[in-house]
Amino acid sequence: MSLYAIGDLHLSFGSGKPMDVFGPAWENHAQRLKDGFSALGPDDVCVICGDLTWAMSLEEAAEDFRFIDSLNGRKIILKGNHDYWWSTASKAKAFFKREGLTTIDILHNNCFHYEGAALCGSRGWLCDSGAADGHDRKIYDRELLRLEASLKAAGNGPDGLRRLCFMHYPPKYGGCECREVIDLLHKYRVELCCYGHLHGPVQKQAFNGRYEGIEYRLVAADFVDFKPIKII
Ligand SMILES: [Fe+2]
Ligand SMILES: [Fe+2]
Repeated sequence: MSLYAIGDLHLSFGSGKPMDVFGPAWENHAQRLKDGFSALGPDDVCVICGDLTWAMSLEEAAEDFRFIDSLNGRKIILKGNHDYWWSTASKAKAFFKREGLTTIDILHNNCFHYEGAALCGSRGWLCDSGAADGHDRKIYDRELLRLEASLKAAGNGPDGLRRLCFMHYPPKYGGCECREVIDLLHKYRVELCCYGHLHGPVQKQAFNGRYEGIEYRLVAADFVDFKPIKII
């Protein structure tokens, strides 16, 4: 059994928004994702860090979720900024049940356990929003509550419980960082944080590596050549 992560599938089977317009890096990306997931076995788990589909509603997303369900392994998904189909986690769960999609779980104010590791996370928000007022600050504060709810859900656990975090937005990017997010990761002794959201040229400013003792990894699909990255 292995644990993987990838972000930003940006599927569009039902919404007619082909990704080829974003350049050759995205050509034939659904097939490349399928090939990438072929490395996983049925007992493997892959966390998908948001931006799953361009669809604006669950109904429009149905074909994309059928595709995700057909990929090897169990998938744990979280919300990205483009996931407009998302209204509530319970509506999405009911939709998956109705559609017979049995390999997709939702990470939202909760956590999953995998082989001695707690899988926690939340979407997050823009890096400099900690310093912002108004709307951005409100969303950021709500995301901090969600992230802490997820980290708390892991409980104290047995000694040696590893805590892994999955976000859509980078906690650290270019010259700025989400200080309160990073502080929460420290508070709950998170050792690794995977994130997505960054595409194309801005990936040059992505932070990959260790910072204050926590490992950060960008797993956006176009950054990892559409192959889920093995975490454990
Ligand atoms: Fe995004
Ligand atoms: Fe994205």
